[in-house]
Amino acid sequence: MAKRIDVSGLSAFYGSHRAIDDISMTVEPRSVTAFIGPSGCGKSTFLRTLNRMHEVTPGGRVEGKVMLDDENLYGSSVDPVAVRRTVGMVFQRPNPFPTMSIYDNVAAGLRLNGSYKKRDLDGIVEKSLQGANLWNEVKDRLNKPGSGLSGGQQQRLCIARAIAVEPQVLLMDEPCSALDPISTLAIEDLIGDLKERFTIVIVTHNMQQAARVSDRTAFFNLEAVGKPGKLIEIDETERIFSNPSVQATEDYISGRFG
Ligand SMILES: Nc1ncnc2c1ncn2[C@@H]1O[C@H](COP(=O)(O)OP(=O)(O)OP(=O)(O)O)[C@@H](O)[C@H]1O
Ligand SMILES: [Mg+2]
Repeated sequence: MAKRIDVSGLSAFYGSHRAIDDISMTVEPRSVTAFIGPSGCGKSTFLRTLNRMHEVTPGGRVEGKVMLDDENLYGSSVDPVAVRRTVGMVFQRPNPFPTMSIYDNVAAGLRLNGSYKKRDLDGIVEKSLQGANLWNEVKDRLNKPGSGLSGGQQQRLCIARAIAVEPQVLLMDEPCSALDPISTLAIEDLIGDLKERFTIVIVTHNMQQAARVSDRTAFFNLEAVGKPGKLIEIDETERIFSNPSVQATEDYISGRFG
């Protein structure tokens, strides 16, 4: 079940450095939200606060609240490992487990979570690869290593791995930046399919991509290097790209800045 994310007053630190300051926003279930903004404004940091990955960095600390429907991810009784299962993540560089087969890459998260009968596992692996639009390309070589796939295929393998555990939210940090244009379009199409089932947040430096895939866009900025990043505005993507409310957003989008 896709869930609503409701962030309030969120700041994230690396040691004493405040990387992002006082961010509040809501992300609707079964929608795609794009995060845009100049390098260093804290997009990746913010994304990692949404599944409690930020605190894995030494010195990483968070203030504020992230609600997933009615559960605060930072509540004292919440297990961060369970959060990371509920809120899946796909990274910039495809990172399949290199020595594992294609099949085992997809099954890895499931095996961690419980024991499955071979037949059930086969079914989930196939469904996940179908969901990631990769099945036809790999169905005859499931036992070959994941590292033998092209970059675009590896990224779709990572998406299959992420969706195999049925997360409620899927976070993607520049998932296409290492990919050629055709693989990029394949991933963008896939995002369009996946949003029927998941709540999706995608960080991208590609304005056309944000415009193509997202329903809403959030623009982040920082006043100066060393200052914390802030959320400047979030709105319908169409509006952000045609008539944003803040001048800084317009400047960034029209390429006068960043
Ligand atoms: N592991 C870390 N330790 C210390 N500071 C960090 C770390 N990772 C990021 N930062 C700092 O936090 C701030 C935000 O970085 P972040 O990577 O979130 O930005 P970003 O918007 O994702 O940038 P980019 O578009 O280049 O990916 C920057 O000032 C960065 O130097
Ligand atoms: Mg980043």
